[in-house]
Amino acid sequence: MIKILITGGAGNVAGALACHLVQNEIYHVVVADNLITGCMHNLPQGYDNFTFIKCDVNNYDDLAAVMLAFRFDYVFHYAALVGVKRTLNSPISVLQDIEGIKNILNLSKNTGVKRVFYSSSSEVYGEPVEFPQNERTTPLNSRLPYAIVKNVGEAFFKSYHKEYGLDFTIFRFFNTYGPKQSTDFVVSKFIDLALKNQDITIYGNGLQTRTFCYIDDNIDTTAKIFEESLYLNEVVNIGNAVEVSVLDLAKKVIQITDSSSTIIHLDPLKEGDMTRRQPDNSRMLQVLQRELVSIEEGIQKILETKYKVAPQTI
Ligand SMILES: NC(=O)c1ccc[n+]([C@@H]2O[C@H](COP(=O)([O-])OP(=O)(O)OC[C@H]3O[C@@H](n4cnc5c(N)ncnc54)[C@H](O)[C@@H]3O)[C@@H](O)[C@H]2O)c1
Repeated sequence: MIKILITGGAGNVAGALACHLVQNEIYHVVVADNLITGCMHNLPQGYDNFTFIKCDVNNYDDLAAVMLAFRFDYVFHYAALVGVKRTLNSPISVLQDIEGIKNILNLSKNTGVKRVFYSSSSEVYGEPVEFPQNERTTPLNSRLPYAIVKNVGEAFFKSYHKEYGLDFTIFRFFNTYGPKQSTDFVVSKFIDLALKNQDITIYGNGLQTRTFCYIDDNIDTTAKIFEESLYLNEVVNIGNAVEVSVLDLAKKVIQITDSSSTIIHLDPLKEGDMTRRQPDNSRMLQVLQRELVSIEEGIQKILETKYKVAPQTI
């Protein structure tokens, strides 16, 4: 049996990864999560090869007890404090996540883990200096605590490989959405408001663009990178390259849900609201070997799976 630890597995992305991996009986999947933003209903249900442990990965003793007991083959370190507003309001808590990164790496090195996968973020590119943003050539311009932690995290992973030979793969996730995402985040929030016919609020003129990666595209790529031992000790952008303005997103959600919601513009955020981001996702596409899910299809998939709304012709 191959033992896999997924930290943050009660969350949106890692929960979907756990649900995917647990379907293979040769894996025993253990999720460690302190449930700060995660929910139990995101976890796989009814599998004998799955274990949930409530655990704060930033606390060495708490994590050591789990990692020494199981002696994992592979670790996916996805636990982190996330969300623009939450991370801007709690910068010290965000910086605490550096402890979790060090704990994961020290314990992985000392317990024979073969490879650690790390969920970094497009935020490491900061206010962008070029498009699309490439893993090897685009300079990192991180300034806010969340982005700095991801940047420091990447440096720790590379350093543990250099000094101790601990193998890694760093995933730089761009905006990833899906049915399990909390309504704190833009796509889920807009869908939720549209279905209730409530006002949809946008910071500034809404012309800031985002790219939206549907969760299945993320999971299919990362699982394949793991299972086929691809991109060892490398960085891979995981995201959709199609840019959509926040205003267009709101309009699309209203149209697809046939909602009477009104779009209301608020003052622009003082910090943390990047004007544009766009991944060079050629490495991801090489792995996936299929088209990515469009934003229209992704909204429909959420409506069908989360809200049980019958599919429409887009
Ligand atoms: N979803 C995205 O668009 C996106 C983009 C870039 C990077 N990421 C990264 O991907 C990872 C997953 O993000 P997500 O969107 O699924 O967020 P999420 O909030 O849904 O998941 C994070 C999970 O980590 C848990 N957690 C937080 N701190 C913890 C701690 N100290 N100990 C144990 N568990 C802890 C939370 O309870 C939650 O279940 C994060 O590392 C995030 O930074 C996500």
